[in-house]
Amino acid sequence: MAKKGKLKVGIIGTSGIAGAHFDCYKRLEDTVEIVGGSDIIPGKARAFFDRKGMPEAKAFEKNADLLSLGLDAVSVCTYNSTHAECSIESLKANANVLCEKPMCVTLTDAIAMYETAKKKRKILMVGFQPRFDPNMNLIREVVGSGVLGDIYYVQTGGGRRRGMPGGNFILKDKAGAGALADIGCYSLDMVMSALGYPKPLTVSACTANKFGTNPLYSKEHDKFEVDDFSVALIRLEGGIALDFRMSWIMHMDTTGDTMFFGSKGGLKIRPAGLGSGWGGAWDGTIGPIYLYSDVAGQMCETPIPMREESHDRFFLKVKSFIEAVRDGAPSPIPTIESVYNQAIVDGIIRSSAAGKEVAVELDIKP
Ligand SMILES: NC(=O)c1ccc[n+]([C@@H]2O[C@H](COP(=O)([O-])OP(=O)(O)OC[C@H]3O[C@@H](n4cnc5c(N)ncnc54)[C@H](O)[C@@H]3O)[C@@H](O)[C@H]2O)c1
Repeated sequence: MAKKGKLKVGIIGTSGIAGAHFDCYKRLEDTVEIVGGSDIIPGKARAFFDRKGMPEAKAFEKNADLLSLGLDAVSVCTYNSTHAECSIESLKANANVLCEKPMCVTLTDAIAMYETAKKKRKILMVGFQPRFDPNMNLIREVVGSGVLGDIYYVQTGGGRRRGMPGGNFILKDKAGAGALADIGCYSLDMVMSALGYPKPLTVSACTANKFGTNPLYSKEHDKFEVDDFSVALIRLEGGIALDFRMSWIMHMDTTGDTMFFGSKGGLKIRPAGLGSGWGGAWDGTIGPIYLYSDVAGQMCETPIPMREESHDRFFLKVKSFIEAVRDGAPSPIPTIESVYNQAIVDGIIRSSAAGKEVAVELDIKP
């Protein structure tokens, strides 16, 4: 049922990305009232709202104090390792949650988040804004149309030549994983959502950190604790092999194209930004797309015209969340899909630590 009046929203974790959530909520002021926020660092939430020109916003150091205000919706903008506890606490307080990506760090936490949302009948949406790019939809439509026949092999691609963050992103207890969690979750979401999110069954992975720990490439080399590169072979339900690669930094322009191999056709998505200083970054922007198929016995390579790129994906993500909360609709990005995404990230972390293939245990019903 549609909710009347403005939705009361709050922000948990008031650092960098919280600013983007705040700005989007401001643009939605007809529907939304920003009530306040919380951050475990004393004074940080207050300073955030003062900087944003909103001294009337309430600021707390305990999330419980913010949630006691009876919020309709919360953005969880903390580092990865506290996504689960903050989302679960918010859902239990009857708030709908827009949680930053990746969903969390472990599959156990992802399942707990999913089950809490289900029990409380609240939205738990993980913020993959590339989903709101028209060309991402184009890829989903092409793959979903069946034109490729039976898909048996998929390769994710892209990666950054130079694009290593610092701060909490390189600390294991805060981020959980490096390039894998930060941008790997996006490239997984791109191909998995196009495939309709088949269940992951096994994962065999390796990770490396040849650059993050090297003073030539990292100012914070003595603090670097995560992967800057990771590669994996994932078996998916339906006999599909998924070949995953992701990198924050490498002596290469790209880890490759994104490719779908099918019995009737193939689809290739070139990385965007090849040759730029960023070097083929995969951040949701999509390069030229080609369809490979036989026509009258001839092998054809057909460029698929691109749709106009959206520069407002982040806003569209927040807007779709707010509209779903207002209308009592399901999460615009089904939560179970983010659980499967996390299952792969978790499998890659476990497999690379164990040095062997691991099984993915997913005993939950969508
Ligand atoms: N969607 C995107 O485009 C995008 C871009 C950047 C970052 N992110 C994601 O957003 C998240 C945050 O990124 P950031 O750069 O703002 O991180 P950050 O590490 O700078 O900030 C996290 C903030 O959360 C606070 N915090 C941690 N645990 C908390 C808790 N239990 N309760 C309240 N506050 C808590 C910290 O004190 C800190 O101020 C990460 O998960 C990251 O992957 C997404």
